[in-house]
Amino acid sequence: MQSSAVLPAFLLGSILLCCVERSAAFSHLQLPSLPRSHRRPSVSVDSSPSLSLSPPVGSSSVLLHRRRPTARRTSLLASTDSAADAATGTLDKSPFFITTPIYYVNDAPHIGHAYTTVACDVIARFMRLDGREVCFLTGTDEHGQKVQEAADRAGRTAIEFCDDVSETFRQLTYDRLNCTVDRFIRTTEEGHRKAVQHLWRVLEERGHIYLGAYEGWYSVRDEAYFSDSELVDGKAPTGAEVIKVVKEPSYFFRLSEWQDALLRFYEENPDFLGPWSRKNEVISFVKEGLRDLSISRTSFQWGVRVPESDEHVVYVWLDALTNYLTAVGYPDTESEPFRKYWPASLHVVGKDILRFHAIMWPAFLLAAGIEPPKRVFAHGWWTRDGQKISKSVGNVIDPIQLVERYGLDAVRYFMISEVAFGQDGDYSDTSMANAANTLANDLGNLLQRTLTLVYKNCDKQIPQPQTDFTEDDQALLSAADGLLEECRRSVALTQGLHHYAEALIKVARQANKYIESQAPWQLKKTDAARMTTVLFVLCETLRRVAVLFQPIIPLAASQMLDQLGVPTDERAFDSVEEGRRKSGVAIDKPSPVFRKMEIETGDDAAKADKGGREQTKAQKETLPAVAL
Ligand code: MSP
Repeated sequence: MQSSAVLPAFLLGSILLCCVERSAAFSHLQLPSLPRSHRRPSVSVDSSPSLSLSPPVGSSSVLLHRRRPTARRTSLLASTDSAADAATGTLDKSPFFITTPIYYVNDAPHIGHAYTTVACDVIARFMRLDGREVCFLTGTDEHGQKVQEAADRAGRTAIEFCDDVSETFRQLTYDRLNCTVDRFIRTTEEGHRKAVQHLWRVLEERGHIYLGAYEGWYSVRDEAYFSDSELVDGKAPTGAEVIKVVKEPSYFFRLSEWQDALLRFYEENPDFLGPWSRKNEVISFVKEGLRDLSISRTSFQWGVRVPESDEHVVYVWLDALTNYLTAVGYPDTESEPFRKYWPASLHVVGKDILRFHAIMWPAFLLAAGIEPPKRVFAHGWWTRDGQKISKSVGNVIDPIQLVERYGLDAVRYFMISEVAFGQDGDYSDTSMANAANTLANDLGNLLQRTLTLVYKNCDKQIPQPQTDFTEDDQALLSAADGLLEECRRSVALTQGLHHYAEALIKVARQANKYIESQAPWQLKKTDAARMTTVLFVLCETLRRVAVLFQPIIPLAASQMLDQLGVPTDERAFDSVEEGRRKSGVAIDKPSPVFRKMEIETGDDAAKADKGGREQTKAQKETLPAVAL
């Protein structure tokens, strides 16, 4: 792991700060005599619930006047509540709404896009297997100047261009990455236009929008505004080219008025921002003060029209963020999906767009009287061989090529295990191959060795333990028994996806040591009863590991469970909660589940797997380095 140089950390600083003269007092705030922290918007528009920003003493969170039943409000993600839940043995089974950012269609999908979607898929699958109803949302962000210009360059109409690229993202999501997305949204959908325009009207009626003029700089690549003082050598701080916007009429959102409310919101919702390391960055940013935000453009046309002001299109970030509401039925806040899934349980985003989600988005929602999401988690960026990934450097990583060369499960496992979720990570062919080989060695070999012995010596059936469990047996079994809770803590509370993967592989490694020390192949000659107990312990450990590995390596885990004779309706997480499995299940002759990789780069390190184990000749596969 290493830190990347790619982060435009200050990006949003500028995006949020398009400064204008403030025209009017914040008219909807009815309590001017109170300090700002005690003001509360009280206007209720349409069906949007009205929101109290100043909870009564003793209240621990922003309150909706109309709240859902308590069970719905309990968040597995709220670390304090959840820790208590875990301690008292109750488990949140409420619906879970998880989202990726929606991807710009001006570019082909790359590893960054694949990464977020796979990470969210792992969490979505985990929650489903843990008994929760899940809505997993992804899609494409199709409006804005950047997309318009890309379409122009391609000689296509904007919508033709969007149709094609959006389809590429859709295929990557479903066909190549095998992601269990429930809703793939496009911002060019009619329903989304209606949702954006409705949200606009609500904000306007509540007094949060005014007409002014914007003057300054705009980066099309970042779709972000910058002031003179923020430019670095005439460019955006991200290095992107900027264009001068000469006094363009623009609507503004009164973001400056939300500083106190946002700070209070972060304080009252300590789990709203993750990981912890990013939280302070956002809070300090807000503490420095917010300026009103330009939320419409007149210099191009490709976007949602501002209601009753046709020459303006809605700023692409207000448009894009609204997708999270559209997908669950907004503006119909009484609809079943909205009642079931809003507020979103978890928005997963890259660190470069955290502030859009952590500042702009809750401010819009609070202003509109809609409850903000429960949690926003920012992951890091990938570099390649230590270098920033960019088209001009020519080191872009195509996720489709990666999957074709290494296999989907290996790629998914690599993405999850290689990088501490939330931090930057580095791709290299060597580390990718090592990840594939970890699966093959630590999991594949163990399964193959265990089931071959079972097949040959136990009547082709998962055996009954025929002796009492020894201390070694108990140690391995209790490590396997403890996995579910450990994984729940990592995935649901902190999104520590790498800890989750590590916990599983650690038990597999413990089982490898166990098989070596117990040597069941020798026991078969000296103590057949003991051999059956050892093989039972191994099969049971493998079953638990495979059940819990399903979200990360769905195809391989399902093959493992097939070979272990586990019926498909006994693969949810409650199957590892309910004690040990009955023995006596028939199995087929085992066959290898994972491929081993060797990379011919001349780099010796590439040829050794992470655990330093020998590779089995028969399973070795030679691959060229990924030339992308
Ligand atoms: N359209 C906006 C998001 C709107 S969400 C309401 C957008 N799109 S994007 O296509 O440019 O980026 C989508 C995601 O890809 C971001 O979360 C970004 O962090 C992520 N990545 C882009 N390059 C990346 C890497 N090299 N590594 C990891 N993720 C990176 O922003």
